[in-house]
Amino acid sequence: MPGAIHAEGLVKTFGDVRALDGVDLDVPEGTVLGLLGPNGAGKTTAVRVLTTLLRPDSGHAVVAGIDVLRRPNDVRRSIGLSGQFAAVDEYLTGRENLRMVGQLYQMSARRAKARADELLERFHLADAADRTTKTYSGGMRRRLDLAAALVVSPPVMFMDEPTTGLDPRNRQQLWSIIEELVAGGTTLLLTTQYLEEADHLAHDIAVVDRGSVIARGTADELKARTGGERVEVVVHRQDDVATARTVLGGFGKAGAVTGDAAVTVAEHTRRLTVPVTGGAKLLAEAIRELDARGIEIDDIGLRRPTLDDVFLSLTGHAAEEADDQGRDTTSGPGDRAEGTAS
Ligand SMILES: Nc1ncnc2c1ncn2[C@@H]1O[C@H](COP(=O)(O)OP(=O)(O)OP(=O)(O)O)[C@@H](O)[C@H]1O
Ligand SMILES: [Mg+2]
Repeated sequence: MPGAIHAEGLVKTFGDVRALDGVDLDVPEGTVLGLLGPNGAGKTTAVRVLTTLLRPDSGHAVVAGIDVLRRPNDVRRSIGLSGQFAAVDEYLTGRENLRMVGQLYQMSARRAKARADELLERFHLADAADRTTKTYSGGMRRRLDLAAALVVSPPVMFMDEPTTGLDPRNRQQLWSIIEELVAGGTTLLLTTQYLEEADHLAHDIAVVDRGSVIARGTADELKARTGGERVEVVVHRQDDVATARTVLGGFGKAGAVTGDAAVTVAEHTRRLTVPVTGGAKLLAEAIRELDARGIEIDDIGLRRPTLDDVFLSLTGHAAEEADDQGRDTTSGPGDRAEGTAS
């Protein structure tokens, strides 16, 4: 399939670090794959390999129907890339940057100008178009870099954390641009730290940790795998947290982690969360049991797992908690109690 991305057994080591440890990926034509993982998981390394910027130690990849290792130049002509760190020329204006990209891709000067104007408008950069980009804010550079990746409309796009550093309005705007692109047939691989973004945009999600894909599926499939619903309770008194934990532990679904350990507790907000199977009936039982123990409840409800829950249960830490290297091996299910799922 000409617009698809396919990778098998990608390995890349940097000294002792196995940045990619046998990564397989498949992105069907016209779909979006969200690559999700903590800092240092290997997301950028995977993008660099697939976009021919880095040679893997082993494995192979085909992008837009072209072998990445054998014909890198042809691959480059068929893809667009917006990297994690904006790659704009500081000494050119926004408009000049975009025109230059058009001309590199052999557009006529006139066509390149028209395309630059169109993109500057779309990315809210028209007012700053004639300033050198070294005067741009971080979010403006980010947007210019994304615009540059869209000057030509390549069949396959790679975006490495496209919305990091964008304010909510610009993030929404980029989401709708991405949706339009994909509706037009573009295949997209996108990395993100924002689980909400993957949930919103990606047809499929691959969760990466320490150089390996540890789970894949649609957002719904991953959520279902993480254990159906959760009962979430906020108790009124701090003193009741421990008892409530024991009560809720008894309702936790059978699995690797049971009893008290299955309950996530945010002490300061007195919020307890436990994965359950059994839905509304179980919720009613939980309320009765807590009431029987004289525990006053501020809030209680049943909710579906979020991608945050998925991330937490797969990697042992919340997305935003991952350390710089993504090598945090200390937090297991037992000690992920404080302030995680809220
Ligand atoms: N050029 C390099 N030289 C040495 N080590 C590297 C190099 N590039 C990446 N690494 C290491 O490989 C691992 C994966 O890095 P990578 O940049 O792919 O992670 P990431 O998932 O993109 O993380 P982030 O969310 O922080 O962007 C890290 O441990 C990183 O330190
Ligand atoms: Mg990265």
